[in-house]
Amino acid sequence: MKSYAQIVSWGRYVPSKVLTNADLEKMVDTSDDWILSRTGIVERHIADDKESTSTLSIKAARAAIEMADIHPSKIELVIVATVTPDYLFPATSCLVQDALGATQAGALDLNAGCSGFVYGLGMAGGLIAAGQYNNILVIGADTLSRIVDWTDRNTCVLFGDGAGAVLLQATDLPTGVLSSVLGSDGSGGSLLQVPAGGSRHPASQETVQNRLHYMKMAGNEVFKFAVNAMCKSALQAIKDAGLSPDDIDLLIPHQANARIIQSAAKMLKIPGEKVYVNVDRYGNTSAASIPIALCDAISEQRVKTGDHLLLVGFGAGLTWAAAVVRWGVSPLVPTLPWWKTVQYRYWDEVSSARSRLRRVLRRISLLGR
Ligand code: UT7
Repeated sequence: MKSYAQIVSWGRYVPSKVLTNADLEKMVDTSDDWILSRTGIVERHIADDKESTSTLSIKAARAAIEMADIHPSKIELVIVATVTPDYLFPATSCLVQDALGATQAGALDLNAGCSGFVYGLGMAGGLIAAGQYNNILVIGADTLSRIVDWTDRNTCVLFGDGAGAVLLQATDLPTGVLSSVLGSDGSGGSLLQVPAGGSRHPASQETVQNRLHYMKMAGNEVFKFAVNAMCKSALQAIKDAGLSPDDIDLLIPHQANARIIQSAAKMLKIPGEKVYVNVDRYGNTSAASIPIALCDAISEQRVKTGDHLLLVGFGAGLTWAAAVVRWGVSPLVPTLPWWKTVQYRYWDEVSSARSRLRRVLRRISLLGR
């Protein structure tokens, strides 16, 4: 029997610190009016000194695990899509796997720029459909504030930090990831890149002096590429799912720029009321943008059982990706009893207290013999 990969739970996290357009006006030569009219962004969230991509991922993932009511040891694979890993190595996914107590899981990072989450969804969907895995955690997370040049107005106004996670589970019901399309055109790699810090230009005094560890972007070129790539891959994913654009109930695009989203929706002939936009609240959170938008769309009750969602992204690489998902669970977050919420939050503490208690009881019973 065919297996489908259903999204059974989800979670998101954004740092508490908010950076508004007014704040940016004090940092670079820009204006609220320019940022809002060119991008649709009002504010973004910025990680504090103690936060990093792994800590954001862990918070989003824990929310998804709590909602699914699943023990972390049941998770078989942790995929973290990111361009801002904690380290060059080990992989951020390994840090996340360890912190979650996902002791039976493999872990890998996936670098496909802002398309990374949809890449992860497509890969996880395929592994589950092949019958190889039953539970895969897919996370999109980025801390772009760490690689943004805060003196470059062309880029620093656009980005924010955050993470989103979904748990995919095998099911016989025809629901979940119905199709996915992944694409790349490496000839455009230099349009959006961090030039130094890798094996081509390792860190040196010169690379630091020339600010080559910060993101460089040809915004206009990326804009033009984005609209076409999104539309082409979206139409293919819709076709592969055996649907037509009219069947799409909600388009959840990568939240880079409200104008890119409007142009893509217009080209796809998907009306505005079927397009989810939250770029105003978070800016471009890279690989996190689509899962955060999915979570927000669910909590705003924009997603109903049976709906067809079209997730589509583009980003550094250059890459693009689209997936069609048939929503198979109630969008209402199940309310867990209080004791279960406490149990999940303090999982490690509860398990070690339980084993300590077991040891004491064993000693007492031995004494009694
Ligand atoms: O996730 C993938 C990552 N990348 C993206 O999503 C980026 C895609 N591209 C974009 O979103 C848009 O191209 C931008 C928002 C980056 C720029 O918008 P644009 O309408 O393409 O503007 P532009 O690049 O054509 O620049 C227009 C002007 C320039 O001034 P001049 O040369 O016309 O005098 C820029 O210097 O706007 C100027 N400018 C700014 N002015 C005020 C650029 N950034 C700013 C700024 N504040 N922050």
